Amino acid sequence: MVKGLKELALIYRDLSDESFKILTVLNSMSTKYEYVPLELIEKVAKLPPSRVIKSLRELMDVKAVVKHKVTQSFRLTYLGLDLVALKKLSDSGVLGYIGTRVGVGKESEIYIAKTPEGRVVAVKFYKIGRISFQKVKRVRTYSLDEGRWFTHSRSAASKEYEVLSRLSDYTQFVPRVYAHVEHSVVMDYVSGVELYRYREALAPENILRCVMMALRSAYVYLGIIHGDLSEYNVLVSVDEGEKPYIIDWPQYVYKDDPRAEELLLRDVSYMVKFFKERYNLEKRVGDCLEFVKGLRDEF
Ligand SMILES: Nc1ncnc2c1ncn2[C@@H]1O[C@H](COP(=O)(O)OP(=O)(O)O)[C@@H](O)[C@H]1O
Ligand SMILES: [Mg+2]
Repeated sequence: MVKGLKELALIYRDLSDESFKILTVLNSMSTKYEYVPLELIEKVAKLPPSRVIKSLRELMDVKAVVKHKVTQSFRLTYLGLDLVALKKLSDSGVLGYIGTRVGVGKESEIYIAKTPEGRVVAVKFYKIGRISFQKVKRVRTYSLDEGRWFTHSRSAASKEYEVLSRLSDYTQFVPRVYAHVEHSVVMDYVSGVELYRYREALAPENILRCVMMALRSAYVYLGIIHGDLSEYNVLVSVDEGEKPYIIDWPQYVYKDDPRAEELLLRDVSYMVKFFKERYNLEKRVGDCLEFVKGLRDEF
């Protein structure tokens, strides 16, 4: 937990129903308005002005909403969007409990959570633009529109959900997905570490084989290529005896894409190189490529 900042789960727990309502109103207008005017919020929420102000204050205190520098208008932050997504996931019976943040990626944050039945899952919240947004903010005096990135994050979440749900029919080496809402995807929680941190593999050759099998299923059955494969996007489950899971699929491409061959070669070469350097495993990139394309059964 970042010092001085309240954790997402606690904010979620303590937020009043009316504040959730205001968040929902702001979210429903986020594609039309950069900042939603106060009168409009009051009108759509159908709440007396004093209560709307009270909720907006509560939401600004926890940094789920920010006010325009000059006018009486407001917008969600990514934290506000997280809360909207959590509320929907909880209301629809997907999640029963949200825990702590367990991962931060290039453009996402991952939380551990539980379904109402007690299954442990991971919630990936896309945060596209967040990093560049903060960098730009430091050198500019006016506030930039975080909201326009929401659309990109929503579509990444929906792409990742779609591809993972299709892939799970063909390979066990990707997390199963349960839902996607707004900028979030709910999937199996993999209890383990990223491949780049996993130094003591007992059977490295088997891990590589499983990774290649997953790429093969994606290529042969769905005609897709991961496109960003590296030791950072493979999680090794230690609970399940070194079983690898390939994660982070939103940038996948179809094999008729002009960049497909180049990306597949890059994905495969990265893995071969990694296993050579870390485990001194000698595999030929060409053989692995043919295996992934279904042209040979061993590599
Ligand atoms: N299903 C999962 N189970 C456990 N941890 C996960 C899961 N998915 C992601 N993580 C953690 O979050 C990090 C970032 O996830 P990733 O999907 O690679 O997002 P990004 O696009 O931001 O790189 C991973 O490196 C990993 O530590
Ligand atoms: Mg990643």
